[in-house]
Amino acid sequence: MTLDLTGQHALVTGGASGIGAAVARRFASLGAHVIVTDLNDHGGTQVADEIGGEYHHLDVSSADEWAALVSHRGALDIAFLNAGVSTRMPDQAPSDEPLSEVTDVAYRRIMGANVDGVVFGARAVLGKMIERGRGQIVMTASMAGLGAIPFDPIYGLTKHAVVGFAKSLGQMVGPRGVCVSAICPGFADTNIVSADMKAMLSLMKIPVMSPERVADTVVTAIEANTAGSVWAVWGDLPIEQYEPTPPFAGLIARP
Ligand SMILES: NC(=O)c1ccc[n+]([C@@H]2O[C@H](COP(=O)([O-])OP(=O)(O)OC[C@H]3O[C@@H](n4cnc5c(N)ncnc54)[C@H](O)[C@@H]3O)[C@@H](O)[C@H]2O)c1
Repeated sequence: MTLDLTGQHALVTGGASGIGAAVARRFASLGAHVIVTDLNDHGGTQVADEIGGEYHHLDVSSADEWAALVSHRGALDIAFLNAGVSTRMPDQAPSDEPLSEVTDVAYRRIMGANVDGVVFGARAVLGKMIERGRGQIVMTASMAGLGAIPFDPIYGLTKHAVVGFAKSLGQMVGPRGVCVSAICPGFADTNIVSADMKAMLSLMKIPVMSPERVADTVVTAIEANTAGSVWAVWGDLPIEQYEPTPPFAGLIARP
């Protein structure tokens, strides 16, 4: 069965490039009207024009910009909260001591995009979804939200936060008709992975998948419609729901 999004309104953050652009294209190909948002107005407008959608500038770390974007709209059917950055600033050289190199500005930037962006986004779109009794919020976490990422611990912090938020918020609003889920991709061929990192991954034979493979994962999460679920994808391995066994199984109620 192919997911049919005809007539649905889907918002994508970080839609100007990489995973966001691939998912925007996928949503449009499945029939949705797509609202592409990003900081990168040039790239975002190009994607929106290509798929017959609309583009809006949105810094996801700004609660005011979220409020302005959603205030005059009806309920969205889908919100793909995807915009994100790594800790390294765009003009920063690789360092052997990455944590000591992290400035306050860099720290606020990643927390703003990866954590605030998801919280503010969910908060902005949820009310109208709940009023209508349906909606899907998919958040882009990462395999770095499930395991260690020694070369960027703050990135790991933000993505573990997204996984925890999706699981908990999913349980909270699932009974009210809104499905919240998270996707956890391994490495994908996008701008967030630097050229030096791609070269290293290739040497280590670590797979770097296409953004379209990540779009497959988003479709899987939407089709599954399972509150608080987490979906992992790595290279061309089958997409899996991640269901860890909690400690003290049977002694405490599973949240
Ligand atoms: N590429 C990977 O290997 C990989 C793996 C796992 C998870 N992810 C996650 O996927 C998501 C998308 O990243 P990508 O890989 O497509 O990289 P990308 O750099 O191609 O895309 C990220 C997009 O987010 C936008 N953005 C950054 N900060 C923003 C902000 N404050 N407000 C609005 N837009 C902002 C950028 O302009 C860019 O268009 C991120 O959350 C990233 O952490 C990527």
